[in-house]
Amino acid sequence: MSGPFLATAILAVLRAGAIQKAKYGHEIAIEHKGEIDLVTEVDRACESAILEIVRARFPDHDIVTEETALARSGSRYLWFVDPLDGTTNFAHGYPFFCASVAVAVDGRVEAGAVYDPLKEELFTAERGEGARLNGRRLRVSASAELMRSLLVTGFPYDLKADLASSLRLFNRFMGEARAIRRDGAAALDLCYVAAGRVDGFWEERLNTWDAMAGALMVEEAGGRVSRFDGSPLGLGADEVLATNGILHGPMLEVLGR
Ligand code: IPD
Ligand code: CA
Ligand code: CA
Repeated sequence: MSGPFLATAILAVLRAGAIQKAKYGHEIAIEHKGEIDLVTEVDRACESAILEIVRARFPDHDIVTEETALARSGSRYLWFVDPLDGTTNFAHGYPFFCASVAVAVDGRVEAGAVYDPLKEELFTAERGEGARLNGRRLRVSASAELMRSLLVTGFPYDLKADLASSLRLFNRFMGEARAIRRDGAAALDLCYVAAGRVDGFWEERLNTWDAMAGALMVEEAGGRVSRFDGSPLGLGADEVLATNGILHGPMLEVLGR
């Protein structure tokens, strides 16, 4: 069963994914938002396509989207759009990126979709209805020990301003887990927690558009999502810890050390 919000989110990420797939591996225009923070013509084309789809169906809803600052009306309905998550990967031809769309109603995320167009993997979730990958129900891993766990993380674009502090948590988890990945697309990283492909994810200073769809995916797959002190994420993002639930306590302990 899929309501109109999820149906719209799905349509939007599939449309963006088609644009990404068509442009992947081809010469594209790239601009710098910061020294290492890129935006490409594909980010913008995907954003336009997604906004068109959402606005055509829900003209009164508010939208937070990465590449354009939009005025908000104070609507009960708030969409979060990352038109291309994994821009650095995309620009280098590294095959790990996606589009991510979520919608919150009265301050709570209710539906989300994330699409990886190269693997043709569509992750979807509706609150209370579970999370799915191409229609198949997802369940987080059963991993109960950090030393037997695969973790994934990411870094903000301003990490070079204080490298030692950015690497502090990475180093700590490196000593505690079996292995750590840095895959470069937070929305997909979160979906991988939901799918049980990795056991836990943490990142400092995420944006709402990176996190909202993926966080719902993790919760609906039976996992847990919080800030680094264990408090709820709400509609802020900032620091995000997402786990299979069993590892939440142990990972909170490492973060709080
Ligand atoms: C970035 C990716 C990356 C994460 C960064 C994000 P973008 O998003 O999700 O994995 O570490 O914090 O900003 O810029 O590729 O949409
Ligand atoms: Ca992103
Ligand atoms: Ca992006």
